[in-house]
Amino acid sequence: MTQPKVAVIYYSATGHGTTMAQRVTAAAESAGAEVRLRHIAETQDPASFAHNPAWTANYEATKDLPAATGEDIVWADAVIFGSPTRFGSPTAQFRAFIDSLGGLWAEGKLADKVYAAFTSSQTLHGGQESTLLNLYVSLMHFGGIIVPPGYTDQVKFADGNPYGVGLVANRDNIAEFDEATNDALDHLARRVVGVAARLAA
Ligand SMILES: Cc1cc2nc3c(=O)[nH]c(=O)nc-3n(C[C@H](O)[C@H](O)[C@H](O)COP(=O)(O)O)c2cc1C
Repeated sequence: MTQPKVAVIYYSATGHGTTMAQRVTAAAESAGAEVRLRHIAETQDPASFAHNPAWTANYEATKDLPAATGEDIVWADAVIFGSPTRFGSPTAQFRAFIDSLGGLWAEGKLADKVYAAFTSSQTLHGGQESTLLNLYVSLMHFGGIIVPPGYTDQVKFADGNPYGVGLVANRDNIAEFDEATNDALDHLARRVVGVAARLAA
């Protein structure tokens, strides 16, 4: 089997997205992929969130790690994106990264890749689905092959999100998630790697 290359590209303010991205990365590697884990760099002045310990801690833990660039997408056969939900949509930081990709889009370098996504929101009905749908609209403009999880495995009946994976983020669960979320993240990674491998073959 060709070893698929997967880029996990995410933004996280207070750390839930970082843990989700790490889980997806480990699962994709277990499924046989070569993985690049890349955070989307913070665009806000750290002084503006100095009052928020979780945001500051996540910023300090990730700021010196390699940040995502468009080249990571060009390199990859498949991309798993992650963004928190803000007012029912991806964050401005995530959008700024997507909006930086115009040159690669014009060259057709974002097309014909497998894409999927995860998000988190503070509340259960706080807009996870609209965030994922919003994010997928841009992937249609890329000419991407969107691979949602659907209900392709029993685990999807536990987390209940056929559009991607969504976590209800409550600050007690920054480092450790419930079993349904972990299973859904693992399944998303396996599915993306499997489809990318079949496309490569
Ligand atoms: C400006 C702003 C808008 C938000 N909008 C929503 C929202 O529409 N629905 C919701 O449930 N949570 C909302 N939240 C909460 C975030 O979704 C939550 O903090 C995030 O999922 C945590 O992810 P992170 O730890 O990776 O940053 C909002 C948070 C901020 C700061």
